[in-house]
Amino acid sequence: MQIALLGGTGDIGEGLALRLAADTDHEVVVGSRKAEKASEKAGEYERELAGRGHEVAIAHAENPDAADGADVVVLSVPAYHLSSTIESVADRLDAGTVLVSPAVGMKREDDGMHYNPPDAGSVTALARTIAPDDVPVVGAYHNLPAGRLADLDADVDWDVAIVGDDTAAVETVESVTAGVDGLRPLRAGGLGNAAEVESVTALLINLARHNDGLHDLGVRFQ
Ligand SMILES: NC(=O)c1ccc[n+]([C@@H]2O[C@H](COP(=O)([O-])OP(=O)(O)OC[C@H]3O[C@@H](n4cnc5c(N)ncnc54)[C@H](OP(=O)(O)O)[C@@H]3O)[C@@H](O)[C@H]2O)c1
Repeated sequence: MQIALLGGTGDIGEGLALRLAADTDHEVVVGSRKAEKASEKAGEYERELAGRGHEVAIAHAENPDAADGADVVVLSVPAYHLSSTIESVADRLDAGTVLVSPAVGMKREDDGMHYNPPDAGSVTALARTIAPDDVPVVGAYHNLPAGRLADLDADVDWDVAIVGDDTAAVETVESVTAGVDGLRPLRAGGLGNAAEVESVTALLINLARHNDGLHDLGVRFQ
């Protein structure tokens, strides 16, 4: 499959790009608002992978071109820019594309990080309202810590809670996720359950802040 990471130049995009390229045969496309930045980061990821024995080509393009023809498009951008990013690629999406939101709305206050969803109830639900009606939207990857994901020397052992109303689209994201060593996809229900998944990210950040030795936390349910 072709997997486009819009804003794939950032933290979670880097982690997903490196792990997908290292562990699967999917074609990874790094998207950016700027073609030059996409090219630079794709080259950086290729060198990182080559240093660990993975001779893989990472494609790169401006976000609309990255989304064009992709089977899976991951919105690896800050929650506040999710709507404009979807709008910028909307005419390149169709029913054959699965749009994935890993985005979490949070606000930092003196006592810690708080989940701060938009009026739609969750960022994933917001994505549903902005995306073209025929494009399935799935929520996933909200609870992965980008730093550790991007460290290919680090073993990972995390669950990925996936929400979506379109069964085929959820299955596609499950399949992509299961291809990455150490990630276990878990179904968390429909898009109406996205807030529960997204809010866990704020908990992970607060746990890391208040407990020595805990950082880059993910989730493993057992
Ligand atoms: N960081 C984590 O550990 C983590 C974990 C799970 C989920 N997430 C979620 O994943 C999303 C991305 O997080 P991140 O930490 O990777 O963010 P980030 O590094 O701050 O930004 C990611 C990319 O977003 C693009 N971007 C920045 N401003 C933008 C704008 N105004 N309009 C459109 N694109 C813009 C940039 O790409 P270009 O400049 O190349 O366009 C940037 O490289 C967030 O919604 C976050 O909640 C993050």
